[in-house]
Amino acid sequence: MGRMTTHKIRLMKRKGKKIVMLTAYDAPTAKILSECGVDIILVGDSVGNSLLGFESTIPVTLDDVIHHCAAVRRGNPDSLVVGDMPFMTYKVSVEQALRNSARMLQEGGAEAVKIEGGGPVVDTVRTIVEAGIPVMGHIGLTPQSIYEFGGYRVQGRTAETAERLVEDARRLEEAGVFSLVIELVPAETAKMITESVGIPTIGIGAGPYCDGQVLVLWDMLGLFQDFKPKFVKQYANIRKVIVDAVTEYAREVREGLFPDAEHSFEMSEEESGRLYGRVRPSE
Ligand code: KIV
Repeated sequence: MGRMTTHKIRLMKRKGKKIVMLTAYDAPTAKILSECGVDIILVGDSVGNSLLGFESTIPVTLDDVIHHCAAVRRGNPDSLVVGDMPFMTYKVSVEQALRNSARMLQEGGAEAVKIEGGGPVVDTVRTIVEAGIPVMGHIGLTPQSIYEFGGYRVQGRTAETAERLVEDARRLEEAGVFSLVIELVPAETAKMITESVGIPTIGIGAGPYCDGQVLVLWDMLGLFQDFKPKFVKQYANIRKVIVDAVTEYAREVREGLFPDAEHSFEMSEEESGRLYGRVRPSE
């Protein structure tokens, strides 16, 4: 497909082509996703839950995401790489947001950043975009505000709250975001938002009417199974593949079946004889 760009992502909405986005946090996985034609790789702060063993995304730092983003970049994907700005890395001041977004591009190799929030982050988004850094917005359930929401609750369920989300989406578009993640809202709300803006919307738990879809890779592969939200479709059971492989390996090691001749190296008979002539194993 050639290298994906924010410009091509914008065009996809106009052409009615669905956008495929997944998360990744390491080089080999990024390479696989790119080979599968995934349009956007999000190095999400979901790395906190998926890989780092945290219960939420709150403890994830900018250095964490930059570290994983750089690994994804080294996988050399053709997919567009978006680095997720973690909790409190863009809300202290516009200047802080600008410096940290720049680090995501310079040190992490991302081509864009993702920022959670509506109205309160609009001015920050505008400044970052004006500095030449593409921004992906994120509205609906924004996991960094989980304590404010009081849990992972569906947002935009009433006409009033849905209308507020439409307003947020329009303001973010006007501020210059090239696309917008919509998380955990009713399908009708996501449809209304999608029809109200010219930028592509990418849904997660937001029904079928968005211009694209994103899932956390570990969830859809069945690797992270601590809890499974209703919107996650599990396309594989990688946890089972790992459990089966590790159990078999442990059995073979314990029974002396691994390593066998096929997986071992040999000395020539002559050298082996010489070795036994020089060193006598203790009896
Ligand atoms: O961090 C993440 O993976 C995300 C997606 C759920 C959109 O923000």
